[in-house]
Amino acid sequence: MNHSPLLEKFIALLDEAESLAPVLDLACGSGRNGLYLVNQKFPVVFADIKETALEQVKSTLTSKYGELKPSASFWQVDFEKDSFEQGSVIQKHEHPLAGKSFAAIMVFRYLHRPLFEQIKQAVIPGGYVVYETFTVEHPQFGRPKNPNFLLKQGELAELFADWEIIHSFEGVIEANNDSGRQAVAQIIARKPK
Ligand SMILES: C[S@@+](CC[C@H](N)C(=O)[O-])C[C@H]1O[C@@H](n2cnc3c(N)ncnc32)[C@H](O)[C@@H]1O
Repeated sequence: MNHSPLLEKFIALLDEAESLAPVLDLACGSGRNGLYLVNQKFPVVFADIKETALEQVKSTLTSKYGELKPSASFWQVDFEKDSFEQGSVIQKHEHPLAGKSFAAIMVFRYLHRPLFEQIKQAVIPGGYVVYETFTVEHPQFGRPKNPNFLLKQGELAELFADWEIIHSFEGVIEANNDSGRQAVAQIIARKPK
């Protein structure tokens, strides 16, 4: 599957970035977006709950380059696990993004609202977030239909209202699904320094 066209816009910003901190491809799946950045020589951390997804990314890299690129690293993680049971007591986990920092975090086709603030915190000052996922308008075109996985109208723009908005879009785009269309929201935003 091809990388998101949103990355063409983003790569120009990364080219000018002062930091070489890695970019996090959060919930990377097959890694289509992170792989595009690695191909452009940017360091990327591929993160997903599924070991099989990370193995697929590794296999794509080795078949292309004959080896794993040092600029690619891999993180098997459950971004939704924030507590565990100890006897009869529920203990809070430290969140997986706590104490980590990235030049940018990109999230495509994944939504877990409790993660929003953690994502904002884990981007370095002057760094970026690139987010694209389905909106409440999407169910007419296919799955997902669960409102937990669908952005409300204006939700992304509101979330990053205190950042510099570089690109913001909400609407219908062409897609490779049965209806050939998807309703999405996109944002590229820069964290204040
Ligand atoms: C629809 S796919 C999107 C993959 C990729 N971002 C893309 O756009 O091609 C959603 C991904 O989220 C991952 N995921 C789901 N729940 C997760 C969790 N709790 N922690 C980390 N990754 C998760 C899935 O394994 C899957 O790879």
